[in-house]
Amino acid sequence: MKEEFETPILAPSLLSADFADLAGEIKKIENKGGKAVHIDVMDGSFVPEITYGQPVIRSVRKLTKLPFDVHLMIEKPELHIKSFADAGADWITFHYEATAHAHRIIQMIHEAGCKAGLAICPGTPVPVLSEILSCADIILVMTVNPGWGGQKIIPSCVEKVAALKKLREENGYDYLISVDGGVNNDTLKSVIDAGTDIVVSGSSFFNGSLKWS
Ligand code: DX5
Ligand code: ZN
Repeated sequence: MKEEFETPILAPSLLSADFADLAGEIKKIENKGGKAVHIDVMDGSFVPEITYGQPVIRSVRKLTKLPFDVHLMIEKPELHIKSFADAGADWITFHYEATAHAHRIIQMIHEAGCKAGLAICPGTPVPVLSEILSCADIILVMTVNPGWGGQKIIPSCVEKVAALKKLREENGYDYLISVDGGVNNDTLKSVIDAGTDIVVSGSSFFNGSLKWS
């Protein structure tokens, strides 16, 4: 996937959008430099809150041609891969911590015709991914604990980005590195300097403060 994009790209997170005006908010993403729409799916179990699922994705799919970067913060992601693909997801990222079968789920995502992403929480170190890095299209580094927008970045998590970049170079891997959580004008430079390819931004994008050029 690294070959397919000139990076870094911005992927605004709908989590901080006005849900009463998703059409307007998706237009804003297109007009303000977003190159993908990050869609946070929470199940009330892997993380405490519940957001939205396949019906909402299916409904907003017609509003834009931008790729849908679906971030599944759900238990048993393997039960829902095909339905999210059918609803219009282009990239499907699930959590390493949510399953014992990461390798198989990546295969399922590919069979469904999507790019496959693997996310790690702040407490999960990069080396546990060693057997999976060669087949993933995206590695998403959570730089806050998943579940809520508007939190403060955990700086030590940004160091994982540099480690993943080094591993990619050393081994010829092809994944894009995504950073999710706490990106704002104060933290953006450190995130990009570390080597992030996909910059996810929720609160600072939608409150209009993020300066992306
Ligand atoms: C948090 C979500 C994020 C969230 C980021 O669990 O995965 O995508 O929207 O929000 P900010 O940018 O406000 O930290
Ligand atoms: Zn997210």
